[in-house]
Amino acid sequence: MASEDTFKKIIAHCKEYGFIFPSSDIYDGLGAVYDYGQTGVELKNNIKKYWWDAMVLLHDNVVGIDSAIFMHPTIWKASGHVDAFNDPLIDNKDSKKRYRADVLLEEHIQKIEDKLEKEVEKAAKRFGDDFDEAKFRTTNQRAVEYRQKAEEVRDRMNDALKREDFEALRQLIIDCEIVCPISGTRNWTEVRQFNLMFSTEMGSTADGALKIYLRPETAQGIFVNYLNVQKTGRMKIPFGIAQIGKAFRNEIVARQFIFRMREFEQMEMQFFVPPGTELEWYEKWKETRLKWHKNLGLGDANYRFHKHEKLAHYANAASDIEFNFPFGFKELEGIHSRTHFDLSQHQKFSGKKIQYFDPERNESYTPYVIETSIGLDRMFLSIISNSYTEEKLTKEDGSIDERVVMRIPPALAPVKLAILPLVKKDGLPEKATDIKNKLKFEFNCQYDEKDSIGKRYRRQDAIGTPFCITIDHQTLEDDTVTIRHRDTMAQDRVQVSQLSEIISEKVSLKSLLQKLG
Ligand code: GAP
Repeated sequence: MASEDTFKKIIAHCKEYGFIFPSSDIYDGLGAVYDYGQTGVELKNNIKKYWWDAMVLLHDNVVGIDSAIFMHPTIWKASGHVDAFNDPLIDNKDSKKRYRADVLLEEHIQKIEDKLEKEVEKAAKRFGDDFDEAKFRTTNQRAVEYRQKAEEVRDRMNDALKREDFEALRQLIIDCEIVCPISGTRNWTEVRQFNLMFSTEMGSTADGALKIYLRPETAQGIFVNYLNVQKTGRMKIPFGIAQIGKAFRNEIVARQFIFRMREFEQMEMQFFVPPGTELEWYEKWKETRLKWHKNLGLGDANYRFHKHEKLAHYANAASDIEFNFPFGFKELEGIHSRTHFDLSQHQKFSGKKIQYFDPERNESYTPYVIETSIGLDRMFLSIISNSYTEEKLTKEDGSIDERVVMRIPPALAPVKLAILPLVKKDGLPEKATDIKNKLKFEFNCQYDEKDSIGKRYRRQDAIGTPFCITIDHQTLEDDTVTIRHRDTMAQDRVQVSQLSEIISEKVSLKSLLQKLG
C-alpha cells in the first residue's frame, strides 16, 4: 500500500515539475500515451546519450542507425508479427470491459502469493528471532496450500498459452472464480486473439492504398539494414547495430503510468555472431547490460535476472533484467538469443541473399543474433521512481520542514546547476547572468531570481538539480559564491573560477562511462 501511495505521488510530481504530462491533456488525455515536459525531455535525452555512448562509443564493433518507422508491410509478415503478435482477450458481457486473459490470471496468482507473504510476515512477527522462514514456507499448512494453488494456476495458464488453447484459458478463469472488477460478475465471453499492431494506409485510395503498420519494435529496422550496414561499413562479424526509436503497440491492458504505453521508445541492439557462438555472446551481453544499469548507483539489489522458461519459437535463450519498481520487480530490459530466425525469414520473403562470408572459417553462413532491448520510458520510470525521496528536516529553531528531493544520478540530471542571485538588486542579477553565460556552454543551467532562496532550493531539489550556486554581495568583492550540494545540502564557499571543475567532476557523463571501462 505504501508503495502504491508513493507511486501516485511520483506520478503527480512528474506532472507538477514538468517531467511527464498526459498526452492531449486539455482534451482529458489519451489512454496510455504521454508527453515529456521541459524537465523530462532533458532526463530522457541524457538516458539516451548514456545508452548510445556506452553501446556505440565504447564498442569498436557496434555502429548505430536510425531507420524509418514506416516499413514495407511484408517485413511484418516475415517477422511473424502479422500472424503471431497477439494477446488473448476476454470481455465481460455485463460491464463490456475488455481484459487480457493472461493478465487476469496473473493478477489472481499475485493475490494468492500476497496472501502467502502475509502469512509469512505474521509468523515472523509472532516468532521473532526464532523464526525459520524456509521451514515455515515448507511445513505450515496454509503457506503450503497457497504456494501449491499459485503454482497450479500458473502451470495451467502456461500450458494453455503454449498450446494456444483458448477454451482452456477461459475455463481456468471460470475455475478460479475471477470476477470483472467493474461489474463484479463472471459473465465472460470466449477468449479471442487480438493483434497488437496499429495499421494505417499509405497513398491515396484511388492509387490502391497500401496497408502499412506502425512498427511494434525497432529491431526489424536493424535486420532489414543488416546487409547495407555490413557492406558499406565493411563490418566484420561479430558486430552490432544499435538504434533508438519509437515503437507502437495497441496494448489492451495499458497502465502503471509509463510502464506500458501504446507509443513508446526502445533502445535496441542486434549483435551478429557466428553460429555456435551465440550462447557465449548471450552471457557476455547479459553481464555488460547489467553492469550498465548498476553503474548508475540506484542500488544493486534493485536488479535481478529473470530467465525465460517458455521461449519464443525463434529463441534459444532469453532473460529479462528486472527492476524493483514501486509495484514490484518487473521487466526493464530483455536480452534474447534470437538465432538466425529474423535474417533467414527476410532472406526468404525478400528473395535477397543475406549471408556472411567468414574468412576465418572460410565459409558463408546466416549470422546468429543476440539482442539487447530496453524500453527508454521504463528506464526513465526506474530512475524517477528510485530517485523520489521525501525528507523531514529539522530547522535551526527545532521546527520540522519537509522536502521532496529527486536523487537522480547527477550525470543524468535534467538541470546540472541553478544560478541564484540572493536578491534582485545591487548588481547581483547582472553578476549571476555573467556566471551563467560562462557556464551554459558546458552545463544545462537554470537562472532563478524569484522567491526566497529556500523556496528556490526546494524547486531545484524537486527536479534533481545537483548544484545550486548563490551569488551574494561578497561575490562582487572577491568573486566567490556558495555552492550547495543537492543530496547533503552542504554549502561551500568557492571561487567562481573553480565552478566548472567542481561541477563537471560530479555531473559529466564521461566519468560514468569511464567506470564501465
Ligand atoms: N525487439 C524485442 C522486443 O521488442 P519486448 O520484450 O517486447 O522485446 C523490449 O520489448 C522492451 O521494450 C521491454 O523490455 C520494455 O522495456 C519495452 N516495452 C515493451 N513494450 C512496452 C510498452 N508497451 N510500453 C513501454 N515499454 C515497453
